Amino acid sequence: MIGPRQLAGIAACVLAALALPASADELEPTGEWSAYDKGKAQLPPMGWNSWNAFYHDVDEEKVLASAAIIVESGLAEAGYRYINIDDGWWLKRDTQTGRMVIRTATFPSAALPDGRTSFRPLTDRLHAMGLKAGIYSDIGRNSCGQTFGHGAANNPAGTQAEREVGLYDHIDRDIRLYFEEWGFDYIKVDGCGIRGMGADNPNVASGIYRQFDPIIDFDSISRTDIPAVQALFGAVGAALERHNPDGDFLYSLCIWGAADVRSWFKDYGNISRTSDDIAPYWGRMLHNLDSASRRELYAQPGNWNDPDMLFVGTGDFGALHPVEARSHFSLWAMINAPLIIGYDLRKASPEQIAILGNRALIALNQDPAGNQAVLAFDSEEIQFFVKTLADENKAVALFNRTAQPLEATLTAKHLKFTDDAEIALTDLWSGESRAFTGAEELTLAPHETRVFLARGTRALPGGMYLSEMPGRINVARDGVIHPEPDPMIHRAIVPWENTRSAGERPRYTGWGGARADASPYGQVLRIADREFTAGLGVLANSRLEVRSGGFGSFSALVGMDDSAAEDDQRIRFEVYGDGTLLAASDWIGFGDPASELKADTNGTEILELVIRTETSTDRPPPATWGDAALMR
Ligand code: GAL
Repeated sequence: MIGPRQLAGIAACVLAALALPASADELEPTGEWSAYDKGKAQLPPMGWNSWNAFYHDVDEEKVLASAAIIVESGLAEAGYRYINIDDGWWLKRDTQTGRMVIRTATFPSAALPDGRTSFRPLTDRLHAMGLKAGIYSDIGRNSCGQTFGHGAANNPAGTQAEREVGLYDHIDRDIRLYFEEWGFDYIKVDGCGIRGMGADNPNVASGIYRQFDPIIDFDSISRTDIPAVQALFGAVGAALERHNPDGDFLYSLCIWGAADVRSWFKDYGNISRTSDDIAPYWGRMLHNLDSASRRELYAQPGNWNDPDMLFVGTGDFGALHPVEARSHFSLWAMINAPLIIGYDLRKASPEQIAILGNRALIALNQDPAGNQAVLAFDSEEIQFFVKTLADENKAVALFNRTAQPLEATLTAKHLKFTDDAEIALTDLWSGESRAFTGAEELTLAPHETRVFLARGTRALPGGMYLSEMPGRINVARDGVIHPEPDPMIHRAIVPWENTRSAGERPRYTGWGGARADASPYGQVLRIADREFTAGLGVLANSRLEVRSGGFGSFSALVGMDDSAAEDDQRIRFEVYGDGTLLAASDWIGFGDPASELKADTNGTEILELVIRTETSTDRPPPATWGDAALMR
């Protein structure tokens, strides 16, 4: 029989499904910013998480010890706030009451006099230290440790029903408990229970866990039920709003880049994992970096790509590898990744604390403009990441991915500065200053990332290229109809599989998504053989929302991108201001020269950039908003 609680749960799911973002066919302007703006994530979250430090072997003493060091070392003052407990805290679900039971053997302060358990004593202590507290759950009935069998000692115990510690069928009850009663401020919601609990799971076959026919198939997007996954995550979001009337929560999605989540998470939560787990190996760090580094237009204040937690302190990023540790940290800072420490800070040396606490690097990550760095130079060997700061200066990270020293030439053009005026560079690791005009030769040590603050004369005076402001752009629709795996991601060995599998093959979808200063397939932007170093590349049948407040006019040179594979389609570019058509191009075909679009945007808050195809197609061609800019 379905009781009132279950009905409430179902109703929440249905409501969430109805509240889904505009359907895939929706190109019509709304005049609204449609990305998820709930929770507190104007800036990427900073904090600590137990997983990379202790895996399942987490306990209260370890959590509090790291929290204490975060405060005493000055890391809290530098911005690290959230202390997050990952998998391993739960004992079981009380099947009489439905209430979750905490493992008091490892979290003794959770034992209440009446026999129940509560994390309130722990969250009270963290709050009293000036910190915030995070909890972990799973969107399915079971956790990752249960699904894949890792961390068996601290996996939930009891009957099949008692072991059902995940949110599934309990969303409202659990979120209420975690936030209203236990006082958490942050939740990471994993997805193993909807991925790995099919009939082929040995523990399902033996009856320990209930079968859940997977709605995520990591290796098959066609066998993944994206709307069902979205409905579940939407229901958690709705419960978070209900049980956090002050809006002070952070919602972290963890489905590892599966289910096309890299494209849609921004409509559902604050941060979202773009890949499978990081590991303390160089190649794995590259893999996780690449999963987020070309998704610069899919992150903005409120929604951040999450390439997984920091591994500074361990393995290739340990005390013997300060260059690699600084690189990992610099790159995460530049791409606006959450800065979540994953290290047993009791072991941290002053040098390691100094890396994690580098205020200049943290300031880049926490810059209020929220612009994820854009790749100004891209290759398998060297990458330049350029981030436009709120004060319109630039930060640039020159990254040597290889184990050899390499020479790099940084040019004014990479920074969108004029090449006839001096550019001042401050090295944010060494503090040294230098200056150049035009181009500068630099040496990068093996695996080194050199990060500079760059001040120069903007090539576009009086305005900003849209590609300098990804934090103001929401890709409401990117034109991708059939999600395809992204081939641009470094394919590292998965440590827990080593070479037992067929290897790391392309798996996360999102290929062909919108890009800053690149075509949807990563090429240089080009219309009828004319190259654009600035611009947005996006498939047709797309709609971008741009926060245009404070600017007076828009201009762009638009056309079909030369990377289009077919030449029989025509496209039309339209610019809307707060829902009203301001400008439109003619129908433009392949090879037609770039056509100028201008619009007065005075007083406009939301600009929408729409591209339509003349005839319906499931292969919309790549199109270019060349030199697209907002002028003051
Ligand atoms: C994985 C997740 C990790 C960690 C682990 C816990 O799915 O990606 O970050 O949370 O589960 O079992």
